[in-house]
Amino acid sequence: VADPLGWVAPALEGLEADGLRRRLRHRGEEPAPAPLDLSGNDYLALSRDPRLAAAAAGAAARWGAGAGASRLVTGGTALHRDLEEALAAWKGAEAAIAFSSGYLANTGTIPALVGPGDLVVSDAWNHASIVDACRLSRAEVAVVPHGDVDAVRAALRAGARPGRRLLVAVDGVFSMDGDTADLPALCDAAEEVGAVVLVDDAHGGGVLGPDGRGTPAAQGCADRVHVHVGTLSKAVGAAGGFVVGRGDLVEWLRNRARTFVFDTAPPPPVVGAALAGIGLARAEPWRRERALAAARRLAAGLAALGHDVAPPAACVVPLLVGSPGTAVAASAALEAQGLRVVAIRPPSVPPGTSRLRFTTSAALSDADVDAALAAVGRALDRVGRP
Ligand SMILES: Cc1ncc(COP(=O)(O)O)c(C=O)c1O
Repeated sequence: VADPLGWVAPALEGLEADGLRRRLRHRGEEPAPAPLDLSGNDYLALSRDPRLAAAAAGAAARWGAGAGASRLVTGGTALHRDLEEALAAWKGAEAAIAFSSGYLANTGTIPALVGPGDLVVSDAWNHASIVDACRLSRAEVAVVPHGDVDAVRAALRAGARPGRRLLVAVDGVFSMDGDTADLPALCDAAEEVGAVVLVDDAHGGGVLGPDGRGTPAAQGCADRVHVHVGTLSKAVGAAGGFVVGRGDLVEWLRNRARTFVFDTAPPPPVVGAALAGIGLARAEPWRRERALAAARRLAAGLAALGHDVAPPAACVVPLLVGSPGTAVAASAALEAQGLRVVAIRPPSVPPGTSRLRFTTSAALSDADVDAALAAVGRALDRVGRP
C-alpha cells in the first residue's frame, strides 16, 4: 500500500525550492561569541535575569515543577492567584485570568465571547492566534484592511442586528510591522453599535504607556478596551498569557474559556518567574526606555541608509526586502557578521513582503545599534539592496 504520509517529503522539498523552508535553531550551540540578538521578543532583557531564575527555582521548590491539574481541578496555587492579582493591579483592571500562553488566551477568550451567528471584525494583519480564535468561535468574521477604521465601522454597521454580539479584535502593536492600532478611533466605532473591543497587546505590554501598562494606556483608552489580552513571554521574560478586564468578564472566562478549563495550570516555576518579571518591569523603567531608544536609533539609522523605515511605535522595526530568497540571504550575511536577525517570510507575512524583522531590547547599547547598522549596510550591499 502507498505510504499515507508520502506527500510530506515532496511538500518539504517544495518549501525548500520556494525559499520557505524553516529550520530550528539551537541557541547556545553556535560558535562563540553568541550573535547579538536583534530578533527576539525579550524586550526588557528579563528572560535571563538571575532574579527570574531564582524566583522560578524558589517556586519549583515550594510548589513543584508542574501544576499537576487544571486550575478548576487541583492545579491552582496561591502563586497563580498572586499572579492574577499582580496583573490586575498593574493594568489597573478589576480582575485578571492567567492562561498557559498568549496563544491560548486568544483561542480561549474569543470563542467564549462570540459564537455562531455573531460577528467578529478583525484587522487583516492580526496575529495568527486571533485568526485561529475567530475560526474556532464559528462566528462570522469580517477581515478588514489593515488599520482601516472606516472599514471597521462599515462592517460593524452592516452586521449589527438586535441580539447579535459584535466584537472588534485587534493587535495593539502589530508584530511583523511594528505599528500600533488606532485604539481610540476603534473604540469610537465600536461604541456606536455596542461592540466589545479586544486588544491583543503582546508587543506593547511592558514597553509602552505609563508604567509599561501597554498600548491602551499609552493611547489613553484603557477604560474603553473591554478585553485586554497579553503575554508573559515577551517583555515579562517568562511564559503564559492573560486577560484583564471586568470582574464578570473574567469570571465568565474562568467558566467558559476552553483553553483555561481544559488546560493544565501554568507550571509554578513559570508563574514565579512571571511574577518576578512583572515586578522588575515596573520597578526598572530604564529597561523600556532603553529598548525604545534603541528602536528609534535603529530605525533612524536604517532610514539614513536610504531604506523606507518609519519611526517605530514600539520595539519592532521591519526592513522589507521583497523575496524570501533575498531575506534569507541577507539574514545569513548578517549572521556571518555576528548578528541574529531573522528573515520573515510568507505565511507569516503577505507574499512579496519578506523582510528582515529587527527587534530591540534593553540589552542593546547605542554602540550595539551602530554596529548593527554598519553590518546591515554591508550585508545588503552583498545580497542586493531592496
Ligand atoms: C500579537 C501576538 N499575540 C499572541 C502571541 C502568542 O503569545 P505566546 O507566545 O505567549 O503564546 C504572539 C506571539 O507569540 C503575538 O505576537
